[in-house]
Amino acid sequence: MAPAPAHAVLISGASSGIGRACALDLAAGGFRVFAGVRRETDAESLRRAGGDRLHPVMLDVTCEQDILKALGDIRQALDARERFALVNNAGVALSGPLEATSSEALRDLFEVNVVGVLSLTRAALPLLRERRGRIVNIGSTSGRFASALLGPYCASKFALEALTTSLRLELGETGIQVSIIEPGVVATPFWDKMRSAEQRLLREMPEALRAGYADRMAARHVLIERLGRSGMAPEEVALAVRHALSAKRPRKRYVVGLRDRIRAAAAARLPDGLRRAIATLRGRGAASFRR
Ligand SMILES: NC(=O)c1ccc[n+]([C@@H]2O[C@H](COP(=O)([O-])OP(=O)(O)OC[C@H]3O[C@@H](n4cnc5c(N)ncnc54)[C@H](OP(=O)(O)O)[C@@H]3O)[C@@H](O)[C@H]2O)c1
Repeated sequence: MAPAPAHAVLISGASSGIGRACALDLAAGGFRVFAGVRRETDAESLRRAGGDRLHPVMLDVTCEQDILKALGDIRQALDARERFALVNNAGVALSGPLEATSSEALRDLFEVNVVGVLSLTRAALPLLRERRGRIVNIGSTSGRFASALLGPYCASKFALEALTTSLRLELGETGIQVSIIEPGVVATPFWDKMRSAEQRLLREMPEALRAGYADRMAARHVLIERLGRSGMAPEEVALAVRHALSAKRPRKRYVVGLRDRIRAAAAARLPDGLRRAIATLRGRGAASFRR
């Protein structure tokens, strides 16, 4: 699965977790990697770890100026025969009861997980067309199966699934291949960020709402803590990304973490009442765990 003679890739959100693992894996595999970061310290850390194939670029996917500058710089840097691909990885978590989710928080989430993906993709398309490129989006099991207290994030990843399919169909004749990676639980800083945000949300929630959700949210905090530790390594996701970028026939969809997928699919088949009962039992368990 060696890359084409010369192959460059832009990865958004490469400061940590899956993005960083992809950047290091692809650089080690012979790709020239343009790694999107938002802080100079992250750029420096990537430079040190990734060697001379890794070029950090400042990229906030919600900032049109950043997007245009990053792609302009990449265009200048590409060699005549170099192919180019885009990995849309940057993403944020937002969980908690939908009833307690503000429209502003939902907009901020979609701005990164959905609008940011389209903004970066749209701006990259001229280059992708010229260079017979590929697009790889990092979706999630949560983009296929929705669950309670994860509604905002699930909605953004469902939207990304739709966006990926439409793009794939629209670009079919251009030769640009579009894939989506659907990881289960991956051990990255994502889970700590989600837990802190949920704890804040719980603290700030009006008392009337808190009473109705506190037990289930406490159960989720215990679960999130466990997931953050026990998830698969981000390098497993990087392998799927590498396949999507290098295989002669990349797949439309890569499920990474079959066990998580089976668990989510099985939960989705349970009657709603049973799913709620399980969540309540977990909530009681967590409440007694905290006492
Ligand atoms: N961890 C999992 O279990 C899991 C499972 C399925 C899918 N995913 C998806 O995988 C992707 C990567 O997540 P991760 O687990 O690796 O979490 P992570 O370590 O928290 O990485 C998220 C990355 O996105 C970047 N980011 C956030 N907002 C951004 C913005 N406005 N512009 C540019 N970059 C931005 C972050 O940069 P800063 O450091 O600058 O904030 C960071 O580099 C996300 O799309 C996530 O939804 C994760």
